[in-house]
Amino acid sequence: MSPESTSAPATPAVAELVVRNAGELVTCADGLGIIPIGAVAVAGGRITWVGPDASLQAAVAMEPHTRVIDAGGRVVMPGVVECHTHVVFGGDRAAEFQLRVAGTGYQEIAVAGGGITSTVRATRAASRAELFAKGLRRLDRLLGYGVTTVEVKSGYGLTVDHELRILEVYQDLAEAVPQTLVPTLLGAHTVPAEYAGRADRYVDLVVGEMIPVAAERGLACFCDVFVEEGAFDLEQARRVLQAGVAHGLGSKLHVDQLSPGGGAELAAELGAVSADHLDHVSDAGIAALAAAGITAVLLPGAVFFLGLHEYAPARRLIEAGVRVALSTDFNPGTCYTENVFLMGTIASTQMKMNAAEVILALTLNAAHAVGLAGEVGSLEVGKRADLLILDAASHLSIPYHWGVNPVATVIKDGVAVAERTRERCDEGEVNR
Ligand code: NIG
Ligand code: FE
Repeated sequence: MSPESTSAPATPAVAELVVRNAGELVTCADGLGIIPIGAVAVAGGRITWVGPDASLQAAVAMEPHTRVIDAGGRVVMPGVVECHTHVVFGGDRAAEFQLRVAGTGYQEIAVAGGGITSTVRATRAASRAELFAKGLRRLDRLLGYGVTTVEVKSGYGLTVDHELRILEVYQDLAEAVPQTLVPTLLGAHTVPAEYAGRADRYVDLVVGEMIPVAAERGLACFCDVFVEEGAFDLEQARRVLQAGVAHGLGSKLHVDQLSPGGGAELAAELGAVSADHLDHVSDAGIAALAAAGITAVLLPGAVFFLGLHEYAPARRLIEAGVRVALSTDFNPGTCYTENVFLMGTIASTQMKMNAAEVILALTLNAAHAVGLAGEVGSLEVGKRADLLILDAASHLSIPYHWGVNPVATVIKDGVAVAERTRERCDEGEVNR
């Protein structure tokens, strides 16, 4: 698409906000869609015009009340879509992390009653106010990293009441934070201790009670399952996700994470919105994802934090035509960080994804993974005005300057919701 093709609606609305003088306006429309020295106009929380700064004056009606933000030659990009998180949980697993450092395996810890099960105990014991307060802090940290849309999973309650309570906390959080939250019921995260040896009975509970109530009360958009040795098998996952679909919930899956298990093939069979992890996906699984148009959500931070070495085969997925998204998998066990940009650097060095692939994976492709590609993930007329100004002059800095937060300003639905004191941009020549 040429930059001009999104310009000049017949009767342009008066802009409430204009972001101008973006050294690189990374639209994520049609590839990266970079407009050099670009500008964006916003009205009613939506993008009304995108184009070269030089055309702004002629194309966009501005009034004295129009807020104009000069990006000072820096990068402007869409708000990050975090498409796989476990934000609400009680307790922490810092001591478990030390066990892993000393050589105990993640699965070994889980079998001994640690892992997900220990977080379930802590989450059940926490008050609702405590869960809300922790969730608020975590979402605020994500906002600081430019995350304007967040998929948020339950999964640390594992009774009907405790799972619903987590989803209700997400409902309260959605009222309290600027971000768009996309709630997912992960009742089938693991088999809770009280159902040990009776996984099928637990699946009956998820299918017969948890899903119908969560769906009826509008508490979830998606249903998710952890398919793994020691969690749920393919048949159990199929039952859960089909029940979700019957109640209007889309499907997401944790699959092929620690061992290959045919999970990608199941995601394709069920027409899931995404298949997540995929570190051990088979060739047949890749082909199935490509044929069914399922978005692959890769979570390299989990591989890194578990001290493992087998990263998802991003290149083979991309070359097979699979749409690839990236996410932190924020959770207390396998990836305890809100720094979503760090995932881009790990994806670059360990999975050989280039800067364009990384940026699209954090924006438009991630929007596909939560069913919101028509609303967010790119800077296009009609979409929500979720955009970031970075302390960087080139998009190449995003995976390159690693471990830091590149985000200077976060705009959500046309409102600046987080602004950091402007640091000196040290990434090269900047047009001011
Ligand atoms: O996505 N794989 C399953 N669930 C999480 C880990 C949860 C935990 O360890 O608490 C994940 O990696
Ligand atoms: Fe996860």
